Amino acid sequence: MGGLGEKETAVALMELHWRRSYETGHPIIDQQHRALFDIGNKLIHAAHSGKHRIEIELLLDAFVAHVKEHFATEEEVLGRTGFPLSARHKELHRALLERARELRKWYGAGRLAASELVGFIADDVIADHILKEDSKFALNDR
Ligand SMILES: [Fe+2]
Ligand SMILES: [Fe+2]
Repeated sequence: MGGLGEKETAVALMELHWRRSYETGHPIIDQQHRALFDIGNKLIHAAHSGKHRIEIELLLDAFVAHVKEHFATEEEVLGRTGFPLSARHKELHRALLERARELRKWYGAGRLAASELVGFIADDVIADHILKEDSKFALNDR
């Protein structure tokens, strides 16, 4: 049988799968969250499959740009509702964006392994922020 090799299995396990329960009910925010999952997946694959640095740098630039746009949109969209984001949530955004930019700079300077980016994307941005913090303003009960 042509099963997956050890490395492919590890990458498949890292893959980020979007679920309906992750939706907040705000169409623009959900669309941006999906886009972040998508770029996050591409980066994880690129990092694990030894893609050329330039490809990873371009994906990182796209990721940082999406994160920046998304945080601004999230703050703006919720600012128009009766439930604006808390000062704490905005501070988390600021710190994450700063960290993303820092990691991008370090990677560009050859001071960071591609694999080190994966933890930041999958754990800090996706799991801890999008899935945990952002679910606090979700419109639907779960
Ligand atoms: Fe978000
Ligand atoms: Fe957020």
